[in-house]
Amino acid sequence: MLALRAGKIIMSDLASLEQRALTDLRACTDEAALRAWNTRYLKGEVDQAMKRIGELPPADRPAYGQQIHALKNKLSSEYETALAKAKERALARSLASDALDVTLPGRPARRGRLHISTQTLRAIYTIFADLGFQVYRSSEVEDDETNFGLLNMPEHHPARDMWDTFHTTKPGVLLRTHTSPGQIHVMRELCPKPIRVILPGMCYRYEAITTRSEIMFHQVEGLAIGERVTMADLKGTLIAFARRLFGDRRKVRIRSSYFPFTEPSIEVDMDCIVCAGEGCSLCKKSGWLEILGAGMVHPVVLRNGGYDPERFSGFAFGMGPERIAMLSYAIDDIRQFWANDLRFLQQFGT
Ligand code: DAH
Repeated sequence: MLALRAGKIIMSDLASLEQRALTDLRACTDEAALRAWNTRYLKGEVDQAMKRIGELPPADRPAYGQQIHALKNKLSSEYETALAKAKERALARSLASDALDVTLPGRPARRGRLHISTQTLRAIYTIFADLGFQVYRSSEVEDDETNFGLLNMPEHHPARDMWDTFHTTKPGVLLRTHTSPGQIHVMRELCPKPIRVILPGMCYRYEAITTRSEIMFHQVEGLAIGERVTMADLKGTLIAFARRLFGDRRKVRIRSSYFPFTEPSIEVDMDCIVCAGEGCSLCKKSGWLEILGAGMVHPVVLRNGGYDPERFSGFAFGMGPERIAMLSYAIDDIRQFWANDLRFLQQFGT
């Protein structure tokens, strides 16, 4: 009797459970609400009602079992249908609000590019590689002896004043003021073989920063040593270089000059790339642009590098890639090179 009553109560519970569940389901407007409904009913009350089958007298169990399964199937299928509809509605909403116009032009991805100095250096490497010069690198931190002494500038030599120097706290150690000390390193490494190298790298000078001078800049040094290297070889090399870099018809002019590590020393000008010698503001009406310093390697320097100056001779030159870039692109302020202003840097190269 008691069991039967219990059975009846449970049966009527199922009917009200179905009603409540369906009413609540219809009130759910989105996916989140539906999932909460699922937790409350299918995984909650319906599940519990299924477990209560054990409390029934055995005779009532089949009927109850059928009912609860039917209820579960019905609620599950209503739930799946409601969920699918809610997803469809959400998709339609997002398509309407995040509408994408596929006919609009794309935004190009921003590409980096090589720094103008690197581009200029690479152009220089390519030309000298074609002329048979290898690249040799040496350190930016040098000792006084190699930066000056072995280049024929003993201590207190007045020519040292040509290079204002950053000294370090360690006596005798400095930041190289030019790439010329690399000549000593390469000679000592390769002696007595013939040499044909360029020595590129950063140099440092303790100078006031102005539109025309910076405290750091690149140089490319050149060095050729052999048993019969002459001034004519130097001239031919430099003319070939100037014409490859600046155009076939470039003229080169040589003026005598002074550097302690070359004898004789020269400075090399080429006819102005803007006015071809007529005179303009780039060449300051002279018709010529100075591009580098050079000369025949001084016998003292050859000897310091291990070469016998009676048997060997050589030429050397040194140029500034930033200066070359300034001439090529009519840049009037050397400070732009290290100011990291993208508006400047983005103008060069692809
Ligand atoms: N080292 C020189 C400078 O910084 C440039 C130079 C001149 C290098 C003549 C050379 C040379 O090799 O022969 O001003």
